[in-house]
Amino acid sequence: MGRLNGKAALISGAARGIGAAAAAKMAAEGCAIMIGDVLTDKAEETVKAITAAGGVAASTELDVTDEASWTAAIDATTAKYGKMDILVNNAGVFIGKDIEEATMEEWQKLVAINMTGVFLGTKLAIPALKASAADSKHGSAIVNLASIAGLVGSQLDPLYSMTKGGVTLFTKSTALNFARKGYRIRVNSVHPGVIDTDMGAQTFAARAAHSRSNDTDHARSVAISSHPIGRLGQAEDIANGICYLASDEAGFMTGSGMVIDGGLTAQ
Ligand code: NAI
Repeated sequence: MGRLNGKAALISGAARGIGAAAAAKMAAEGCAIMIGDVLTDKAEETVKAITAAGGVAASTELDVTDEASWTAAIDATTAKYGKMDILVNNAGVFIGKDIEEATMEEWQKLVAINMTGVFLGTKLAIPALKASAADSKHGSAIVNLASIAGLVGSQLDPLYSMTKGGVTLFTKSTALNFARKGYRIRVNSVHPGVIDTDMGAQTFAARAAHSRSNDTDHARSVAISSHPIGRLGQAEDIANGICYLASDEAGFMTGSGMVIDGGLTAQ
């Protein structure tokens, strides 16, 4: 029996990377998946891969910065699966610039996706999550993708750190607020180290640029050496944590941050 049998989830930004790995893992554990992303063709490719492996998945266009888009994506999920038990706020971007270089436009884009997106998704999913919580032993679940950069300062991207620090505390605040109101919606965050995805590659480019070099291979080996475990994280490493927090196995967890970083922040 799958750990998420009978559940339905909406995962933002799941066309590729960590979100796509979470979608595949959760589908393999019996969850019906709705992928919400701006990359609609890529999202459909991910859906095909999941269904080819025997899972249940569909995609819908979602721009997390837009309220009407969230409403439509949540409606698409409940219309297709009859309910929604899990929301994974995964969509996020990284700019990799010092504050002297970042423009207002870049800052506003970062805030819109990394913070407004999490606020809107959480707010608009409450009715659907509350409704399905009534039929579930441990209630519904929200999993927010923060970062180790939301726990300790990122040297490469102070503005990204500011947004992820916000997600870290928003997770705790909403967990407490929902518990007080008796909503039965658990809210937890995941804090990845450097993960081998498109965003991971962006961090190597930023690291190289900070050393005034184009040598992204060197930047990658510096990133590897900063993880005591001796390798970068893979999207599946994070998907495993997301799946656990979304499942009833984490029924006594709310307001927690799960660090999956190969020991980076243990130093
Ligand atoms: P990625 O760049 O590979 O994938 C991000 C996904 O979000 C893409 O599919 C993209 O189309 C989607 N997205 C971007 N803007 C969107 C919008 N406005 N609406 C809907 N979807 C949108 O990134 P990755 O690595 O998979 O990251 C996923 C999450 O994990 C992000 O929140 C990121 O900040 C976080 N994270 C990633 C780390 C890494 O090293 N890769 C480390 C720590 C946290």
